Amino acid sequence: MSIVSVQSFRRGTGKTMIAANVAALLALAGQQVGVMDFNFAAPGLHILFNLPDAELGRTLNDFVWGACEIETAAYDLTERLDVPGQLILVPASTQPRQIARILRGGYYVHLLSDACNALLERFQLDFLLLDTAAGLTEDTQLALALAEQVVMVLRPDQQDYLGTGLLIDVARRLDVPVTRLVVNEAPAAFAETAVQREMEAAYGCAVTAVLPHTEPLAVMGSSGLFVLAHPEHDLTTRLQRIAAALLM
Ligand SMILES: Nc1ncnc2c1ncn2[C@@H]1O[C@H](COP(=O)(O)OP(=O)(O)OP(=O)(O)O)[C@@H](O)[C@H]1O
Ligand SMILES: [Mg+2]
Repeated sequence: MSIVSVQSFRRGTGKTMIAANVAALLALAGQQVGVMDFNFAAPGLHILFNLPDAELGRTLNDFVWGACEIETAAYDLTERLDVPGQLILVPASTQPRQIARILRGGYYVHLLSDACNALLERFQLDFLLLDTAAGLTEDTQLALALAEQVVMVLRPDQQDYLGTGLLIDVARRLDVPVTRLVVNEAPAAFAETAVQREMEAAYGCAVTAVLPHTEPLAVMGSSGLFVLAHPEHDLTTRLQRIAAALLM
């Protein structure tokens, strides 16, 4: 059982895309996988799994408010995705009133760790991926504290570099055993090997994958799982490196 937190300092770096696709790849490899939307302010993980808002019943919000058991906020998408393992999604609510209630601090943070433990146990998961919000908040620190592995996503951008250093420091202070860097949205002219070496030296963590800006992914616009739609694409091969590293 391993909790993997997907984090970044800045918004829109590709955390949700990576969490959803890597979860699918792990389930394709036969693993029992859970993936949880830890981004209460800007939820959306369920959209990549083609689970429309109309089909959303209970969510993680209900669990942290003590309104339901974790099973009722967990959606088994194994058959829908046709994966040999198991894929369980725990979405967060997209209802404005529920988002507002969370933003007012209307829940107990420790219940998020209860949600993870309950899910790991109930579904006997090999992996639980947490799709977090950007930045350093109470929730994102909790995700770091819970994680055995962190996938730290950054773009090749000076603002990302600064914030990533800060998050990695916090991860070290919280004794996260493994932090992996994933560089996303690399432009075509990106000097992959040189920048990778510089980052590894600067942060003291391995760069597990460099993901180029990929037009077909941008065109999909979160409307599905790229790795299932484009199993032979170079981006899928690169995302597989992240799954393989988690499996090591
Ligand atoms: N390598 C890439 N090439 C092209 N488009 C990408 C790439 N990575 C991510 N995107 C697109 O960028 C957008 C933002 O990605 P995503 O929602 O995963 O970011 P995020 O880090 O989860 O954002 P937030 O911080 O708001 O949660 C999405 O439309 C996604 O499809
Ligand atoms: Mg996101």
